[in-house]
Amino acid sequence: MIRFDEKNKVFLLNTEHTSYGIALTDDRYVCHLYYGSRLEETDLRYLLREDEGPFTPSSNKRETGSFLDSAPMEYPESGMGDYRESALRIRSAAGYRASELVYEGYEIMAGKPRLEGLPATWGADSACSTLKIYCRDQLLGMKVTLLYSVFQDSDALTRSAIIENEGKEPFYIEKALSACLDMDDRGFEVMGLFGSWARERRIQRIPLGYGRQNIASFRGESSHQEHPFLALVTPETTQDTGEVYAMNFVYSGNFIAQAEKSQFDSVRMTMGIHPEGFTWKLEPGESFTAPEVVMVYSSEGLGKMTRTFHDLYRNHLIRSPWLHRKRPILINNWEATYFDFDEKKLLEIAEDASELGIEMLVMDDGWFGKRSNDDSSLGDWRVNEEKIRGGLNSLVENVKKLGMKFGIWIEPEMISPDSELYRQHPDWALQVPGRDITQSRAQYVLDLSREEVADGVYEMIAEVLHSADISYVKWDMNRQLATMGSYAWPADRQGELYHRYMLGVYRMQERLLADFPDLLLENCSGGGARFDAGMLYYSPQIWCSDDTDAVERLSIQEGTALIYPVSAMGAHVSVCPNHTVGRVTPFVTRGHVALSGTFGYELDITKLTDEEKAIVKAQTAEYHRYNDLIREGDYYRMESYTENKDRDSWMIVSKEKDRALVFCVQVLSGANRKSRFLRLKGLDPDRRYVADGREYQGSTLMRAGLRIPAESGDFKSRLIEIRQV
Ligand code: DGJ
Repeated sequence: MIRFDEKNKVFLLNTEHTSYGIALTDDRYVCHLYYGSRLEETDLRYLLREDEGPFTPSSNKRETGSFLDSAPMEYPESGMGDYRESALRIRSAAGYRASELVYEGYEIMAGKPRLEGLPATWGADSACSTLKIYCRDQLLGMKVTLLYSVFQDSDALTRSAIIENEGKEPFYIEKALSACLDMDDRGFEVMGLFGSWARERRIQRIPLGYGRQNIASFRGESSHQEHPFLALVTPETTQDTGEVYAMNFVYSGNFIAQAEKSQFDSVRMTMGIHPEGFTWKLEPGESFTAPEVVMVYSSEGLGKMTRTFHDLYRNHLIRSPWLHRKRPILINNWEATYFDFDEKKLLEIAEDASELGIEMLVMDDGWFGKRSNDDSSLGDWRVNEEKIRGGLNSLVENVKKLGMKFGIWIEPEMISPDSELYRQHPDWALQVPGRDITQSRAQYVLDLSREEVADGVYEMIAEVLHSADISYVKWDMNRQLATMGSYAWPADRQGELYHRYMLGVYRMQERLLADFPDLLLENCSGGGARFDAGMLYYSPQIWCSDDTDAVERLSIQEGTALIYPVSAMGAHVSVCPNHTVGRVTPFVTRGHVALSGTFGYELDITKLTDEEKAIVKAQTAEYHRYNDLIREGDYYRMESYTENKDRDSWMIVSKEKDRALVFCVQVLSGANRKSRFLRLKGLDPDRRYVADGREYQGSTLMRAGLRIPAESGDFKSRLIEIRQV
């Protein structure tokens, strides 16, 4: 999969359908050669245009600057003459900001090394291989290892970098991105995901102009607003055609993803930790690892890119034992009761739910300390026995008697100013001494850069989890980071806080999974502010959005599923009028939309009508009929409501292509409309299938289409099963 052509000084990393080429110039510069559809030969140096000016420094000593500012670089540094976005910026102990990496050697190894303390894709030695390119800055005593991994069963490639101080003096990393891709422009358009609370991950696609266009967060989390994903697509790109270059960050903190079009019509695409508020002091003997970026190239449009990400994440990122298991259908009491509940109310919900096929009760925010609204008690992780009379264990045992499992909500990263914990440890909150701590939702953020803080909170949470038979944890995080200061770190290490905070969160989640190996963990952040690949390493599912309206969810889930498997998308059926948008949609439609995610309920089931309860029973049966297919299948999109403002449709096709599900939602009905023919995707053109009680050839369904009758009434949906004859 990975070759080095000694004569041409070319590395070629091949996946089944793609190639990534790197070449050495002047035996010292690590240049980018090619990324695209698969090539077989390594005689590719002509792609570097070394015979065109500006020539390489060895043949044109008086003009190094122009070379540095135009050559395609694998890991460009700042301060020496490349004025495009740099990947690395170092400040020496003496305060100078310039570094010069010189190629030193390489290693090709089976498998993939772990990235210390960080989430990352993984694979057996037989399933993937890694290229390590070693570079050195002699003056700083800095070694940089560029890591590239490819997988046998995937068209994705991963990148990261390790920076080591092998010198005698400390230096400061002011910027260490994880990936850079230089290529000629092809009229690229920039695709990203944008949003807000309850409006996460909407797709935006705009032309790339000269200059820099970036997508970023320095909120301390991947965020509701922008997403650590960037794709450059050729203008004709659709779901099924066109070229796509995509990057996705396996990280949950600050990030920057950028496309820059240069004076020479080349494009530099970069991704990594946002340099805003970041400096990392590297003492002699220490190393710093930049988190992983996953890169996907597709010559078959966005759909192929999506399926490559989905498979990579299902096969090589998510580790949970629940990944390939049907998750219990849950009912969460948040939208049912908010903070106003006690054990009696929870048991009433559980009783009705258990009769309708729901398998787990999740107790959301409000069960601990003296919390009866969001003003207090974060950090006081002891059950409030005035609410949960008889204690947690008794509640859990009573739920279990109904044949259900039990899950619990926690928010371990936060501390309320009104909490016992804060009164005992005011220094545990992130803060800048002498300044008011910025409050959000009346809470502060714990200084998880400190091990004793992370351990102290973790131990309280672990005690709760040990105290009863708890099968599921919803790990929430309801505010962004601000007033970044820590009592624990010296002045020249305060710039490490954002990243150290993330490392603290990852360490806590790692501990949680080690101590409770069968736990089903769902990450969450005020809805979907931390739905990212970093979190998927710890939890097989993430709450997608606090907006549970079926129509809003079409866009949110389309954007999310652009990268992440639908089996990871936390999706629940809630009541109408919807609590976020006030819309009334049919119960059946809400079920169909949630079925394309993890599936569950978030409502007061005791208040449903008999008719609605009958639908719940049918939906839970449907979940069991279809979840294996939905969880493991291939995802295809046919129509986007976000684009056409009329209707949405998508499909899940089994890997064996013997079964499929078609989801169609007609958002608004229209007068005097005919039925339409929906061209299906992903089936075998030569096999015969049954759909809606009629037999078709696969090619007929894909070329002529399946007839979808015009619906009367708004927000109507249909779920059609396709089976091979
Ligand atoms: C935000 C989450 O997204 C909600 O589902 C709920 O758990 C609340 N937090 C509780 O505070």
